[in-house]
Amino acid sequence: MSRPARTTTLRGAAQPLPRMGLGLAALGRPGYITLGHRDEFAAGRSVAAMETQSHAVLDAAWRLGIRYFDAARSYGKAEQFLGSWLSTREIDPDAVVVASKWGYRYVAQWQVDADQHEVKEHSLAMLRQQWQESHALLGDQLDLYQIHSATFESGVLANGAVLDGLARLKSEQGVRLGLSLSGPDQAALLRVAMGIEREGGRLFDGVQATWNLLEPSVGAALAEAHAVGMTVIVKEALANGRLTAGNDSPRFATQKARLQRVADRLGTTLDGLALAAVLAQPWADVVLSGATTDAQLVSNWAAFDVVWDDDAAATLAELAESPPHYWAYRSALPWH
Ligand SMILES: NC(=O)c1ccc[n+]([C@@H]2O[C@H](COP(=O)([O-])OP(=O)(O)OC[C@H]3O[C@@H](n4cnc5c(N)ncnc54)[C@H](OP(=O)(O)O)[C@@H]3O)[C@@H](O)[C@H]2O)c1
Repeated sequence: MSRPARTTTLRGAAQPLPRMGLGLAALGRPGYITLGHRDEFAAGRSVAAMETQSHAVLDAAWRLGIRYFDAARSYGKAEQFLGSWLSTREIDPDAVVVASKWGYRYVAQWQVDADQHEVKEHSLAMLRQQWQESHALLGDQLDLYQIHSATFESGVLANGAVLDGLARLKSEQGVRLGLSLSGPDQAALLRVAMGIEREGGRLFDGVQATWNLLEPSVGAALAEAHAVGMTVIVKEALANGRLTAGNDSPRFATQKARLQRVADRLGTTLDGLALAAVLAQPWADVVLSGATTDAQLVSNWAAFDVVWDDDAAATLAELAESPPHYWAYRSALPWH
């Protein structure tokens, strides 16, 4: 029985930071796949309203002590909102870790019901173009630049020109490199990535992967990555909102009742419980909150107060789905 470690010191960082970061996937654009996304923007979804809401949640994160922020080229205006927040609040670059990603282009033109929201392209031309764009918005605040959703199908980990381009960015711009993973092959991809070397050392400094109570299959590979010194960042800890009180799907009722029993026993909420499950993993350096409101963020943050135990781990291990099933469900989530 123990409370989770609250802080971690990332390699190369000036000081320890809390093990919870804020991801901007749902804040940077009007449409997203999380279950309640249609209800969370009381002031509307104009660019100005969403920038105001993003800044409010970033302010709340700062007050809690959150110092790790995650964006991507494809999260609408997330990099722009994060950049304007960093500059208007005069945030010291050494006080925060800023991560972004390249590899998808946002094409929804601020429409929630667009036919297509993002286009994937893992080419050297895309890397060069998106690095320029990310750097223009985030400047030298950008600490970690990640391949967005590396997969075997995209071929990016076998593309020598892209890997050489990344190595050049690292040596010439001093940015750390990472990759995010999606799909049932996360573990296999990570092990390939761990073996890629340039200039006498491992190319990738960090990995961002989906690990949650429904899809924990990448856990052993993440432990290996952590053990060799890669920074491990966990995304989708709430399974896109499925592991929250907001999930009213009748098909999830049995699992929700099991979660609720454990949450009640540990004195927390469903989201607090799911995030505590991540914080209980010694290899998890940072878990991302995907909160879109202050209230969600405060609720997520309370995961640090959960005293996790073996009984919770054993009871909740039974919620794991087969990875192909989990990812098929995830792929079918509608944008709204
Ligand atoms: N491939 C990639 O690289 C990739 C993919 C996905 C995510 N990410 C990163 O990971 C971050 C987190 O992922 P995520 O937001 O997709 O997943 P998540 O953490 O699994 O889900 C977050 C969502 O859960 C809901 N939620 C949170 N707290 C809640 C509460 N107390 N009560 C009810 N609902 C609550 C909110 O949905 P509603 O707002 O809809 O209510 C929120 O947007 C992203 O922002 C992004 O930075 C990266």
